[in-house]
Parts: sequence; C-alpha cells; structure tokens
Amino acid sequence: MKQRIKQFLKAITAKIVLEDEEFLNKYLKDQRLKGLFRQLPVFEQRHSLDVAYTILEKYSQVLDDNEKNLLIKGALLHDVGKIGTGLNPLTKSLAVVIDKLFPQIAKKLTFIKFIDGYYNHPIKGGQILKKYDLPPDVIYLVENHHKNSKNHYGHSGKLLKILMDCDDLN
Ligand SMILES: [Fe+2]
Ligand SMILES: [Fe+2]
Repeated sequence: MKQRIKQFLKAITAKIVLEDEEFLNKYLKDQRLKGLFRQLPVFEQRHSLDVAYTILEKYSQVLDDNEKNLLIKGALLHDVGKIGTGLNPLTKSLAVVIDKLFPQIAKKLTFIKFIDGYYNHPIKGGQILKKYDLPPDVIYLVENHHKNSKNHYGHSGKLLKILMDCDDLN
C-alpha cells in the first residue's frame, strides 16, 4: 500500500526535462516513434524513461551496444499500448486495486476501456509498433513484458528478464 501511494505521488508530479529529450532523440531517432512516445500520458513517459535509465545503471556491464539499443527502445516503448485507453494515475490505481482484490472478476471487465488497457496493453502495443520499422526483438519485448519470464528462453528471453526487472523497480 505504501508503495502504491508512493507511485501515485510520483505519477501526479511527473515531468520530462531537457536531459530526457536528448535521451529520446538518441534512442528514438525515427521522429514518428518519438511522436508516438509523446502520446503517452506524462506519468507513463516518465515511467518508461526511468525503466530505460535503470537498465543502463544496472545492466550496462553485461550488454553489448546492439542489446543496449534493443532494450532501451523496448523500455521506452513497452507501454505504448496504454495510449488512448483512459489510464491515468487514478484509473491505474483503481485497476491495480480491483486486480488485487477480485482478479477473476477484474479480468471479465475488459469492456471498460481502462481495464482493457491495464490487462491488454502489451498486445495492443505490439500491434501499434508493427506499423513501424522496428527489430522483431523490440516487438517481442513489448508483447511479452507482463508474461512470466520463466517461460522465455534464449537471447530475447535474457533481454526480456532485464526489462521486466527494471519495469518492476519503477
Ligand atoms: Fe506494462
Ligand atoms: Fe511499465
């Protein structure tokens, strides 16, 4: 609960600074992708940037340049499926609470837009990103970032575990 309150406060005070802009220009060179990222609510932009920064802080040593590039793109774009789903700090908190208290019922409520966004944003994100020229690994990361990482193997599985770890920390 304490963690949720902290996350809520962080969300309502979130902002993007110049340093973040420079980071976005470096990793989302395609202006259309940057435009897509900017359609996320500010608190989700902040979250995605923080996930990317945590990856660099925690895992730089074990990643080569190509892996870093894939993972940072994946981190910045992993929640784009939330665009237009009505998820904001309040509805997101509500979805988390309903999911915790009544998981079975909650999963049947996907006719409510923000609940649908809460559960199905990885698949929605993958569908959006397939229209862009992105490496398949990035799409894989986005589509699978809430699935149990134990079932994912090989190179993309390794990248997915890192993304999920850093997503959890933010
Ligand atoms: Fe997510
Ligand atoms: Fe996330």
